[in-house]
Amino acid sequence: MAFVHIKNLLYKSIGLHSDTVGESSIDRAISQRMHVTNCSNASAYYKLLKGDKQELGELIEEVVVPETWFFRNITPFEVLRDNALNIYANTGKSEKNYPLKILSIPCSSGEEPYSIAMVLNDSGMKKGDFIIDAIDISARALKKSRRAVYGKHSFREKEMDFQDKYFEPVRSEFRLLKDIRDCVSFRQGNIITDPISPADEYYDIIFCRNLLIYFNRETQRKMLNKLSLMLKCGGLLFVGHAESGQIDKNDFTKIRIAKAFSFRKKVNDKFLTSPAKCNDQPVNKLRDIYDQLVEVTKKDIELSKKINNPKYKSTKNNKNDVSGKNIGNYFFEKIDLLINENCLLDAFRLCEKFLEEQPEDSDAYYYLGLISNLRGDSAGAEELLRKAIYLSPGHCNALALSADLAEKRGDEDSAKSLRRREQKARKRSS
Ligand SMILES: C[S@@+](CC[C@H](N)C(=O)[O-])C[C@H]1O[C@@H](n2cnc3c(N)ncnc32)[C@H](O)[C@@H]1O
Repeated sequence: MAFVHIKNLLYKSIGLHSDTVGESSIDRAISQRMHVTNCSNASAYYKLLKGDKQELGELIEEVVVPETWFFRNITPFEVLRDNALNIYANTGKSEKNYPLKILSIPCSSGEEPYSIAMVLNDSGMKKGDFIIDAIDISARALKKSRRAVYGKHSFREKEMDFQDKYFEPVRSEFRLLKDIRDCVSFRQGNIITDPISPADEYYDIIFCRNLLIYFNRETQRKMLNKLSLMLKCGGLLFVGHAESGQIDKNDFTKIRIAKAFSFRKKVNDKFLTSPAKCNDQPVNKLRDIYDQLVEVTKKDIELSKKINNPKYKSTKNNKNDVSGKNIGNYFFEKIDLLINENCLLDAFRLCEKFLEEQPEDSDAYYYLGLISNLRGDSAGAEELLRKAIYLSPGHCNALALSADLAEKRGDEDSAKSLRRREQKARKRSS
């Protein structure tokens, strides 16, 4: 019975659940600590544990899994590299948001946050342009992080150029250079019980990989909500491969790159009164989406008046003719109206629903990009516009907006090439 109490204590304090960590590894850790503390049985050890916080810390050290290495499963770091400058350009817009803020929890012995620092350094960002908060419950792992001297187990990825660039040999090990060490602030923290972020919507990027797997479903859900609260709209969340299935599609959009396990937090909006209702009727889902659109507009901004105003009526369609291929035109005219009324999230969600039915519709991606940009998420906007252009290479509006955004973040070459493509596409269509 005492073993059960000890496991409950572990579950309550750090969320570790015997179903996920495995009974035997928890039993082994308890037996090990009983041996060190000279407790002859589990009841005696439980008594000791309840009155001694330090011993609870020692048991936690024994039970946690500190496994990590530099650039673990490389792809997330490539996604970070490809997005960092974009997010930074967006963040740098207002002094309030500067510098770029990144969280690595759990950071274990430091390989993950230091990999992030190396990526940002490679992208041309300087110390001070970003901060990296690195948090773990294990004091032992944090001590190793601060020392920043690593053996061969920390260098397991195939791509090893970074080792020559950022490390100096110290006997049989390697010490990370000071410039990179100084980019990361380590601190002890428990994701279950401690306030992790200084404020809501504080971080631009959160890495939380290979921790949620040790929690049960309920704790996973609570922790994902906690992480979502800390992350800015449009910010990126990276999780481990076994954890990506738990991410709530209502809050996050998956970055569609194999093995990235990364998600962008969706924008939120005060105008949204209820999530767009989902209707399973197979026959005319587009019609249903159209009805939702009208519902939302009626309810929130009395746009129905405008819809009935001839000024806004489509020349090709009317309310009785919203089937077949014209429904797309009609739909996007109404999306335009919503955007004009600044009902951006309603417009965004409806375009997303439209895409569920018409997954290859370049206009829907264009509008999602346009709305994301209006919401200040230019990195997300560029990604969506890329999809629109991929599906429809001559999409003039998508090319034009992409060119503007590339120019805004200082990428003159891409901006020029996009403008050339836009001009050619306009000539072809005129
Ligand atoms: C497998 S490592 C993951 C390290 C790194 N994120 C990675 O993916 O390589 C798991 C880490 O979670 C930490 N940990 C376990 N429970 C925690 C909690 N409740 N709060 C913070 N860190 C915790 C452990 O100390 C351990 O270092």
